[in-house]
Amino acid sequence: LWTPANIVDDAIAKVREQVGDRKVLLGLSGGVDSSVVAALLHKAIGDQLTCVFVDHGLLRLHEGDQVMRMFADNMGVKVIRVDAEKRFLDLLKGESDPEAKRKIIGRTFIEVFDEESTKLEGIDFLAQGTIYPDVIESAAVKGGKATMIKSHHNVGGLPEDMKMELVEPLRELFKDEVRKLGVELGLPHDMVYRHPFPGPGLGVRILGEVTKEYADLLRQADHIFIEELRKAGWYEKTSQAFAVFLPVKSVGVVGDARRYAWVVSLRAVETIDFMTARWAHLPYELLETVSGRIINEIEGISRVVYDVSSKPPATIEWE
Ligand code: XMP
Repeated sequence: LWTPANIVDDAIAKVREQVGDRKVLLGLSGGVDSSVVAALLHKAIGDQLTCVFVDHGLLRLHEGDQVMRMFADNMGVKVIRVDAEKRFLDLLKGESDPEAKRKIIGRTFIEVFDEESTKLEGIDFLAQGTIYPDVIESAAVKGGKATMIKSHHNVGGLPEDMKMELVEPLRELFKDEVRKLGVELGLPHDMVYRHPFPGPGLGVRILGEVTKEYADLLRQADHIFIEELRKAGWYEKTSQAFAVFLPVKSVGVVGDARRYAWVVSLRAVETIDFMTARWAHLPYELLETVSGRIINEIEGISRVVYDVSSKPPATIEWE
């Protein structure tokens, strides 16, 4: 019988059989798939699992801390957090082409991950959150839909010098099954039902050149948007929602003073397969609340717009 509990038991048995008493490394991104793998492997093999969490500085507000709190503090999973913000931002300096930015972020991500993993001794396996759609769509373009580690390994296989066998306990599952597994394993509902987040993160949501100033402003705006969506019960009615940083300045007034500051766009879509998508018809009152909060609470932002483009021809992300 296919119940989440049975799938968990079955997956645990398979992992134990494959791994025995040897050690496994997992690239934890904070996304649903790698998080479910972490929870599953922790249950199956405990301390034989080590996770490496690369923080590229392009994550959402408090995301890195949340990942550490949930996995390391609450669950007792061994997680090595690598704070690589400066390294990524230095490499991104001066680059404004979307694909070039993706390449820099993807390549650096793999480099950092490889550096960390070679510091660890006696690892025999590399675990990945590959799910069934990744298997069929492994030729996906634009960096793949999964984490960088995943897309990297999915398309090209393991790097030459990484002589590790793969552990992919979600390989036969669809996303909704992975989510049920996550709930069964005790992960919080909000975590398991999160919108997808691209591997390059805010790197492709800051149009053009990426800077720390822009990333910090965008993180705050995005946080307000998501918080209000959740409050209004709209988060789970949309498939993906986020803020985009536009590097243009617009005039505003605050009290008696003129303000000349940045613009953000809100983006929210409804979709089944992410190949086509309709812009979400969010209530005006909700948009009003979000825009009011963003402009009043974030000094560096003077204007908020809402993206009413559907896919195709517009893509979901702006880059
Ligand atoms: P687009 O913008 O192509 O997005 O309509 C479709 C879905 O793919 C995600 N996306 C990415 N995910 N690396 C990723 O891991 C990427 O470079 C990337 N680009 C787009 C996007 O968030 C949406 O869910």
